Amino acid sequence: MSWSKEIPANPVVAVAGATGAVGREMLLVLEQRNFPASRVKPLASARSAGTTISFKGSEILVEEMTPQSFDDVDIALFSAGGAISEKMRDDVVNAGAVMIDNSSAFRMEDGVPLVVPEVNPEAATMHSGVIANPNCSTIQMVVALSALRKAAPIKRVVVSTYQAASGAGVQGMNELYGQTGEFLAKEPLTVNKFAHQIAFNCIPQIDVFLDDGTTKEEWKMVVEPKKILDDAAIEICANCVRVPVLRCHAEMINVEFAAPISVDQAREAFATAPGVTLMDDPASLTYPMPGLLAGTDGTFVGRLRKDPTVENGLNFWCVADQLRKGAALNAVQIAELLLPS
Ligand code: A2P
Repeated sequence: MSWSKEIPANPVVAVAGATGAVGREMLLVLEQRNFPASRVKPLASARSAGTTISFKGSEILVEEMTPQSFDDVDIALFSAGGAISEKMRDDVVNAGAVMIDNSSAFRMEDGVPLVVPEVNPEAATMHSGVIANPNCSTIQMVVALSALRKAAPIKRVVVSTYQAASGAGVQGMNELYGQTGEFLAKEPLTVNKFAHQIAFNCIPQIDVFLDDGTTKEEWKMVVEPKKILDDAAIEICANCVRVPVLRCHAEMINVEFAAPISVDQAREAFATAPGVTLMDDPASLTYPMPGLLAGTDGTFVGRLRKDPTVENGLNFWCVADQLRKGAALNAVQIAELLLPS
């Protein structure tokens, strides 16, 4: 099935989950990029209905999300969790709106494009009403890998992530703040959102465990890049760790190529790639750091060096703001692809 309805030049845009960490960032990105919406409709649970949220200098009313919320909507940006996306999918699509979904509910479904605009923008037009926004750690990795594979084909990737609390939404960020205060005050730590203490700790588990001992987050980082890069042959080994950082994810990435590539060639590939910012100067101790890049839009790379233990190996470090390129910005960029040219 394909989608025949045209998106108007000034669409009505719903933000489903507008009071959440990603939803708030979606509103900010729509505003900052001057997205040509004729109206923006913030939707959340009944708990938030009637509150207001600032957008373009005014306060706009948050409405309760119901099946009827999408009747006058052209594009619905969703970030209210997978269960809500699944529940609302038919209502959104039957209303003639395009759902751009930040959850993992539909990412691997046939017929649902999984889009990173710097990598596979053409896929966005092949939808049947739903387009999926990839996992946050996947997005920044494929932006970087896509740049490198223009210089040499990629055989295998080993990635270890250092993922911020923002990946667990507002409650995750609040838990990091709260526990940090409790820790410094020598009080007992309140643990709710994460399985263990996150302040002054690292948790080698993100999402649930699968039967083979990996986690679902690690599985997402293996299967999603293959779909986005349209290359089922790339071997990926992912290790995902939650760290006490507020909102930028970092990744140490080891790539084995099928052909020789020098560090200088890799540096050049990054320097000229859309969406990538090269920050790589050991002499001046320059490399990207998650604590200093919150609020930025790029995918930052540094610490480039050869991996001498394999033929054609390269190591690098990659940082991006999880709430922006890892979620809200990527979703709004997808919405921009839908606008009439
Ligand atoms: P609310 O603030 O009213 O609970 P985060 O991932 O940062 O925790 O944000 C989750 C977002 O999803 C929030 O905007 C939240 O709204 C929204 N949400 C959660 N449950 C529902 C629901 N049942 N219906 C609509 N929106 C929901």
